[in-house]
Amino acid sequence: MSSKLGTAVVTGASSGIGAVYADRLGARGYDLLLVARRVERLEKLAADLRSKYGVHVEVVGADLGKASDLEQFADRLRGDEHVTLLVNNAGLAYMTPSAELSAAKAQEQINVNVTALVQLSLAVLPRFVAKNAGTLINISSVLSIFAMPLSTTYSGTKAFVTLFTQGLQQEVKDTKIRIQAVLPASTATEIWDVAGIGGHGVLDPATVMSTEACVDAALAGLDAGELITFPSLEDGALWSHLEQARLAIPAAVNTRIPASRYTSRV
Ligand SMILES: NC(=O)c1ccc[n+]([C@@H]2O[C@H](COP(=O)([O-])OP(=O)(O)OC[C@H]3O[C@@H](n4cnc5c(N)ncnc54)[C@H](OP(=O)(O)O)[C@@H]3O)[C@@H](O)[C@H]2O)c1
Repeated sequence: MSSKLGTAVVTGASSGIGAVYADRLGARGYDLLLVARRVERLEKLAADLRSKYGVHVEVVGADLGKASDLEQFADRLRGDEHVTLLVNNAGLAYMTPSAELSAAKAQEQINVNVTALVQLSLAVLPRFVAKNAGTLINISSVLSIFAMPLSTTYSGTKAFVTLFTQGLQQEVKDTKIRIQAVLPASTATEIWDVAGIGGHGVLDPATVMSTEACVDAALAGLDAGELITFPSLEDGALWSHLEQARLAIPAAVNTRIPASRYTSRV
């Protein structure tokens, strides 16, 4: 018997935020399709979730940064009519000054954080549109709205995720499809080990959220119908002001006339 809610796909479920999404979505009664490279970790989580929640859990080992694996997994999603929810969570960050970042490491971030997220979003979207139903959650970052000297490429990838997600939201605004971008701040995961800065232990503990708190807040935001969720932003008006200013630009620029500061001579 498959779940009435359908199957939730979680990319990067082998650790951190993705593993907690898998747990919470299993608890809600979704069947699960979990993907990452470290299959033994996925298998362990899958066994745990099957016994805790009695849901079906399937595990796929894939390197979403590799075109062949990504294509195969995207094909799998295109052909699976049970998929009703996708969390595009897999991601990585190399916190390195750009002059010291290898081309390969820059590309790896782009492949996983951007290319995989786009291809998998596009794989599920046609069915969501046809059914006028479905949920897409894209994990971005607060670093999508600013870059630190160490995060330039990572911030660039996440800026793409936020704007791509906002574009999709515009496209489906008159449907029942839910599309959310989640912008966590520092969260206690292994991403900080991969980042090359010595793990999240080097950060001020007062600034680092637990994975459970992050995902529970993000899901509360989803349930409340939020399009953009900052799990740790207390003053939501800050984001509203930024959006208001951002969205005032398109109307203000379509004037045909160069701005006076570029034409007037003193
Ligand atoms: N932690 C934070 O402070 C923070 C803040 C803002 C946003 N985020 C975002 O949150 C998301 C989850 O990260 P996390 O913090 O939970 O880090 P994490 O614990 O390192 O988890 C990252 C997940 O992505 C998977 N992944 C990485 N490269 C992959 C690849 N080539 N193919 C398939 N899966 C891959 C990893 O699995 P395998 O290694 O097994 O493949 C792992 O399951 C990321 O998109 C990250 O950018 C994190």
